[in-house]
Amino acid sequence: MAEQKILILDFGGQYNLLIARRVREQHVYCELHPHTMPLEEIRRFDPLGIILTGGPASVYEPGAPTVDPALFRLGVPVLGICYGCQLMAQSLGGLVTPAEDDSAREYGKTQTRFDPACALFRGLPEESVTWMSHGDYMAAVPPGFRPAAHSAACPTAAVCDEARRLYGVQFHPEVNHTEYGAQILRNFLYAVCGAEGDWTMADFKAQAIASIRERVGEGRVLLALSGGVDSSVAAALLNEAVGSRLTCVFVDHGLLRKNEGEEVAAVFSGRALRFLHIHAEDRFLARLAGVTDPEAKRRIIGETFIRVFEEVGRDIGAVDFLAQGTIYPDVIESGAGEAAVIKSHHNVGGLPDCVDFKEILEPLRMLFKDEVRELGRTLGLPEELVSRQPFPGPGLAIRVIGEVTKEKLALLREADAIFREEIARAGLSRVCSQYFAVLTNLRSVGVMGDGRSYDCAIALRSVQTSDFMTADWSRLPWELLDRVSVRIVNELRGVNRVLYDVTSKPPATVEYE
Ligand code: XMP
Repeated sequence: MAEQKILILDFGGQYNLLIARRVREQHVYCELHPHTMPLEEIRRFDPLGIILTGGPASVYEPGAPTVDPALFRLGVPVLGICYGCQLMAQSLGGLVTPAEDDSAREYGKTQTRFDPACALFRGLPEESVTWMSHGDYMAAVPPGFRPAAHSAACPTAAVCDEARRLYGVQFHPEVNHTEYGAQILRNFLYAVCGAEGDWTMADFKAQAIASIRERVGEGRVLLALSGGVDSSVAAALLNEAVGSRLTCVFVDHGLLRKNEGEEVAAVFSGRALRFLHIHAEDRFLARLAGVTDPEAKRRIIGETFIRVFEEVGRDIGAVDFLAQGTIYPDVIESGAGEAAVIKSHHNVGGLPDCVDFKEILEPLRMLFKDEVRELGRTLGLPEELVSRQPFPGPGLAIRVIGEVTKEKLALLREADAIFREEIARAGLSRVCSQYFAVLTNLRSVGVMGDGRSYDCAIALRSVQTSDFMTADWSRLPWELLDRVSVRIVNELRGVNRVLYDVTSKPPATVEYE
């Protein structure tokens, strides 16, 4: 792990994960912890600087989240953002009040003037746009502080006490709408905290390998490989660390995209590890026969996965470590601190119960998705695998509407491959967040040559999103849609209609089932 660490204390704001990402993008390691982290623990963490996040509460409400004011006497630089700024002001003798009239509340893009003498704003133009979202404001700054930025409605858009290295901003430097947000965070990290930018993937890789070796010793490690980015990168990292003492179990449920199973096998079967490629398509399809309900499909796939894994586990025997590709957003979302989190990968709830292991190993649990991809590249994994778009655990089963059969899967696989091929050819594979074909259960009349057809409709789905909680449909070029449509109906027998989905999430979801 990097030597220099920034501690981010979480007050429940919606952009908190983004703050952590922005800090790491500046090559400074950071961790997000609950604001209730005890002072002793904070001392042990030994942060280079502390960031207090925004949050939905008001600091003057009874029971509002707070920190031990001794935090501000640690001699560690602090940056308070929005709620964090108000909390610092109140704790140190300032006055925070609700904005009396609407004009003092600020939401959205706001022209802000900065004091260039304040270290946070060094090198910035004196005026630019910031992103505000607050109903409270600092009516009086604490002793020792001075205002360092203002907007038309707010005389204290930023405050600082440079002697104690305490800084606060009312706006959100972490969101892109704040024009010089990245520069402001950089100033805090480098000019105020003295960061050296020691967080690089090559360093992380070397340190992660050393710590895995130390922990595992001569032990044996088992990993369920799904073919997704996280478990593949975890496999490559563990492989470098423990070599042939790693066993990877790849359960191919027959619901993968075209060539996906072979691609994963090609990457891992050539390495010095035990790679078990379990072909279980027939077994999954037999269990899915006649099933049309989406949740029933998910349940069956999850259960079948466990059964297959149990059987393989019995053959493998006892292992010392069960490894998982848990990543940082999974850890944060589950609200876990130090406790081990079992990711329900592939919807495999309870997977660890069915194999005999002593400890859980989660080597990626401190990495964001883009960092995992970067680590994958550093480990020499192919770009197609590393930059792979998300793919649901139940695979194509939830993209064949209604009953899943081998024939339908084969048809969908081809249509999906054509769509992906054309998206790549148009240079859009990194632009669209997720894109795929769906085999609908709609049959409709068409005319082909001189004859009438009564065939299936393929729906194309492509979305833009950063978090998959909400998504917008991609404005793909007409020419691209035209090419995909022509190719699908010409190349695939049994399809006479192609539809493009122009629904956002909400009200629709990304997947169809
Ligand atoms: P929805 O359809 O919920 O999808 O808007 C949001 C994201 O989650 C993925 N997804 C799943 N992933 N198991 C998974 O591992 C599932 O059952 C599942 N359902 C949806 C989906 O592909 C999208 O990225």
